[in-house]
Amino acid sequence: MNSFPDQFTWGAAAAAYQIEGAAFEDGKGASVWDMFCRRPGRVYKGQDGSVACDHYHRYREDVALMRDLHVPAYRFSISWPRVLPAGTGNVNPKGLDFYDKLVDELLAAKITPWVTLFHWDYPQALYLRGGWLNRDSPEWFANYAQVVVEKLSDRVTNWMTLNEPQCFIGLGHQRDLHAPGDKLGLHEVLVAAHHTLLAHGRAVQAIRAVAKRKPWVGWAVVGCTSIPEDEAKPADVSAARQAMFSAPKKSHEEVLISDDTVFNNAWWADAAILGQYPSDFVTLFGDSMPKIADGDLKTIAQPLDFYGVNIYQGSLVRAGADGAPQGVDQPVGGPHTTYDWPVTPACLYWGPKLLQERYKLPIVITENGLASMDWVAANNTVPDAFRIDFLTRYLRELGRAISDGVDVRGYFQWSIMDNFEWNEGYKQRFGLVHVDYATQKRTPKQSAHWYRELMASNGRTILGNT
Ligand code: FCB
Repeated sequence: MNSFPDQFTWGAAAAAYQIEGAAFEDGKGASVWDMFCRRPGRVYKGQDGSVACDHYHRYREDVALMRDLHVPAYRFSISWPRVLPAGTGNVNPKGLDFYDKLVDELLAAKITPWVTLFHWDYPQALYLRGGWLNRDSPEWFANYAQVVVEKLSDRVTNWMTLNEPQCFIGLGHQRDLHAPGDKLGLHEVLVAAHHTLLAHGRAVQAIRAVAKRKPWVGWAVVGCTSIPEDEAKPADVSAARQAMFSAPKKSHEEVLISDDTVFNNAWWADAAILGQYPSDFVTLFGDSMPKIADGDLKTIAQPLDFYGVNIYQGSLVRAGADGAPQGVDQPVGGPHTTYDWPVTPACLYWGPKLLQERYKLPIVITENGLASMDWVAANNTVPDAFRIDFLTRYLRELGRAISDGVDVRGYFQWSIMDNFEWNEGYKQRFGLVHVDYATQKRTPKQSAHWYRELMASNGRTILGNT
């Protein structure tokens, strides 16, 4: 294979809270992130997203930049409290109008919009009513989805419901690292998770019910990826598969005090796609299981058109003596990004391959990328050679998955521009475009020019000689 498939979607991504700013303007309600950032010591140097990249005011300039970089598709999210300040009830016309204009601007620049309904900025007003712990929360989300889809679906066809529920539940409700900053016990965490899954299902129903153009619907979950240490060994491959989809070998007591319970694929995707919670997890969670009402799993498991997945890194595993997965350390001194995430290109081979084997849906890589220590050099360029190297290696592995028959439909680079990286503030720079936060000056990095050529050649620039 020397290029990606003809209809392959190339794009770049961002999310509302990370770029928009205008956090308290034009009638927007507060989100849990607006509140969390005010808590001392929670975010790097007390930073917040109140201005961020000022994209709310500069979206025209940003779309023009994407057009100049020939980005064919842009994945962005809608801020729920910008559209519905109280989370339910009255629509804020100015808020909805912003996304309406953004979509028009994108289409005029021949950029296809891919819309994520929820990328973590939950309305504070609903959090005060119990948030995801409230059994009404799926209805709140479905109503919000309906408002957005009614407005945009004459032009938007690509929809994602939730971004990374593993993170906003795991980091936000269990580990107190992200907004809203809670440390709930296992039962409550699983109740909140169950409601987010119901919200996903109800939103898919709402999209299909009101969309004016035939929608293409998915979600964008974390791809917890394992990579076999030696891929020529079937036992290692099977260990990677087990690590990706089986419950950890822990006792119920251990799981009660562990804080990474929801960082897995199967708990979420078996429910949403196969229509049942995986039985080994159900056994492990025991009496911490949430109450599942009749019909819940049917609501959750709505037919999806694609499996959107965010993959940044993978863990190495081998088969232990009993065949069970055994973690393998990354090589000492091996490559890692400035976020200290290991550079593991094969995750873009094994992630899509094993997810598709189990869930049988077309895959879209809705996020992939890296933080690197980029700055504007004396000659006014941003020489981010490591981003180019990282993406070359990762995308070659994605190409290998496709040549091995995995149906991958698209790839979105995270992120179009440097932005507010949650509890890491502005420290981590993930963008193809450098942002000087003091002046809001945008400077495309070398990788942005490189990515333009790669997309224009449909991947030939990296696959050509392989
Ligand atoms: C993902 C998030 C995204 C961004 C990247 C680096 O977990 O979905 O918003 O922060 O990580």
